[in-house]
Amino acid sequence: MAESMKGLKRTNRCAELTIADEGKKVTVMGWVQKTRNTGGLIFADLRDRSGIVQITFNEDKLDKETFDKAYKLRAEFVIAVVGTVAKREGGVNKNLKTGEIEIITEELRVLSTSETPPFPIEANSKTKEDLRLKYRYLDLRRPDLQKNLIMRSKVATLVRQFLADEGFIEIETPILCKSTPEGARDYLVPSRVHPGNFYALPQSPQIFKQLLMCSGYDRYFQIAKCFRDEDLRADRQPEFTQIDMELSFVDVDDVIDVNERLIAKVFKEILDVDVPLPIERMTWIDAMNRYGSDKPDTRFGMELVDVSDVVKGCGFGVFANAIKDGGSVRGITVKGQGAMPRKKIDSLVDFSKDYGAKGVAYICINEDGSIKSSFAKFMSDDEMSALIKAMGGENGDLLLFVADKNKVVWASLGALRCELAKRLELVDNSKFNFLWVTEFPMFEYSDEQERYLAMHHPFTMPMEEDIDLLDTDEPWACRAKAYDIVLNGTELGGGSVRISMNDVQEKMFKALGFSTEEAYDRFGFLLNAFKYGVPPHAGLAFGFDRMIMLMTNSESIRDVIAFPKLKDASDIMSEAPNLVDDKQLEELFIKPTKIETESSDLD
Ligand code: AMO
Ligand code: AMP
Repeated sequence: MAESMKGLKRTNRCAELTIADEGKKVTVMGWVQKTRNTGGLIFADLRDRSGIVQITFNEDKLDKETFDKAYKLRAEFVIAVVGTVAKREGGVNKNLKTGEIEIITEELRVLSTSETPPFPIEANSKTKEDLRLKYRYLDLRRPDLQKNLIMRSKVATLVRQFLADEGFIEIETPILCKSTPEGARDYLVPSRVHPGNFYALPQSPQIFKQLLMCSGYDRYFQIAKCFRDEDLRADRQPEFTQIDMELSFVDVDDVIDVNERLIAKVFKEILDVDVPLPIERMTWIDAMNRYGSDKPDTRFGMELVDVSDVVKGCGFGVFANAIKDGGSVRGITVKGQGAMPRKKIDSLVDFSKDYGAKGVAYICINEDGSIKSSFAKFMSDDEMSALIKAMGGENGDLLLFVADKNKVVWASLGALRCELAKRLELVDNSKFNFLWVTEFPMFEYSDEQERYLAMHHPFTMPMEEDIDLLDTDEPWACRAKAYDIVLNGTELGGGSVRISMNDVQEKMFKALGFSTEEAYDRFGFLLNAFKYGVPPHAGLAFGFDRMIMLMTNSESIRDVIAFPKLKDASDIMSEAPNLVDDKQLEELFIKPTKIETESSDLD
């Protein structure tokens, strides 16, 4: 039977108490972590969000009813205890913040009992994630998740304070929207009032924040929920949060400046990590050439080397042909791994196939300088030594090469580099390496749609020196005033300077193959707004979940989101998404399509 807390008022959170409180009468409330019974003495660990404190029930000092109640306590009962803080009799527990003290109980109330939980509530849980997510409200009691969510809240507060001090105004933008121009699939919401019409949930507040610049708000920010119906990964959720901002009368450097100061402040105050400013900048093409990625992890070397010039006339057809077809041959040098067994090399080859590589050619340089290679038979000795020299290969090294279109070479070697660093434990996990990647290409070829698309979005400003390219038939080399902020190989945020000049915008639409009507159909309200005086403006959005994931050293953004979705975008706790009543569908003018279910044996 649960008791009321009437007449009691909590005085302290459990782990706030210290030896300095010795002798104080306190009232604490929380969940029983565990109990130990040693005859006349019962000990309970009491837990709340601050941590754990030991409660002691002494048979000699308590009435029988209270001691019996203590005897019946079980894990996850919710209790209130009135007692006196005392120096711990049984010696200090160094593993606990409150290890020097205990509370000698005078009064106990059982506020709520608990069934045996499906898994123990403890840090570093070994329980399968599916089960934890099914009982997320219990999972959220675990100290590691509590630590993550508390840090998330602190960062949000700090960001709000910092941006307010910098003159930003927090403004909410709608959730029921028209489609935004970002690349992912929209989540659609049917309209009851407008049969057959749909709202889209925002993929980001992009258009609204640009409109706010037209309206003169000058500096906007929002901690905004965004929705994207895309395939999920460890760092992607269908609904996620951005720290979103837009600034007027600024250029690239202004956006970078305010954001690196924001990052430095957050990392210093929350983690006591110094982020040296200015943060390094690297152009997109340099990032691709050196790391094969537009979000390079710069905590380790193993940079890509372009050996196309060295092998262009060589006897190995795979290399020579890739170059002839407009591609390249690049390699990485894996220091000290020349003796890597064939099986392991084969597993790297398999790994790289997921990134489009047709193969990986290798040279193992033995300690005595002799070599073992998958393609030596096609090469002359001179060609081989020129190649090894170009790679800086030394005795005991392993050299890996991919020949293909640049896109494939970059993607596969970039991924191999990261995979090798992981397998060989080359990454220093204590480092926070920030990097700005700048000068992104304006356009990206879509193999699927067989045409060029805007890499960022169609409102991204070209670099001044490349604007003239938009007037040619081959504008594809045009670079954009777009920038990403990368942390340890994860894209933390991105943004751009926007087009505020009519003629540039029209050229951009033309290059993308939009007619004026099509452009107005999709983005008319933004283009119309621009007719009435638009300031030059630029912005950026951080992935807030990713930021907290990296700050808490979590493996997945699910660990920093209170109620995340599974890989299939479902929530197994609340069972969303679910089927709805026919009546609800009727009101929305939606006819359910019968979903084919597997036929049963009786059919
Ligand atoms: P972008 O699409 O690059 O830019 O998104 C900004 C940042 O949001 C994070 N992010 C995600 N986080 C979790 N789950 C997802 N599915 C997900 N998708 C993106 C990333 C990313 O860097 N409107 C522009 C910003 C601008 O130009 O100002 C935008 O949304 O960390
Ligand atoms: P083969 O002539 O098919 O026996 O290939 C010789 C070596 O070249 C093998 O180690 C292949 O894995 C490798 N290889 C094949 N295609 C490529 C490629 N596109 N880039 C790099 N190496 C390749």
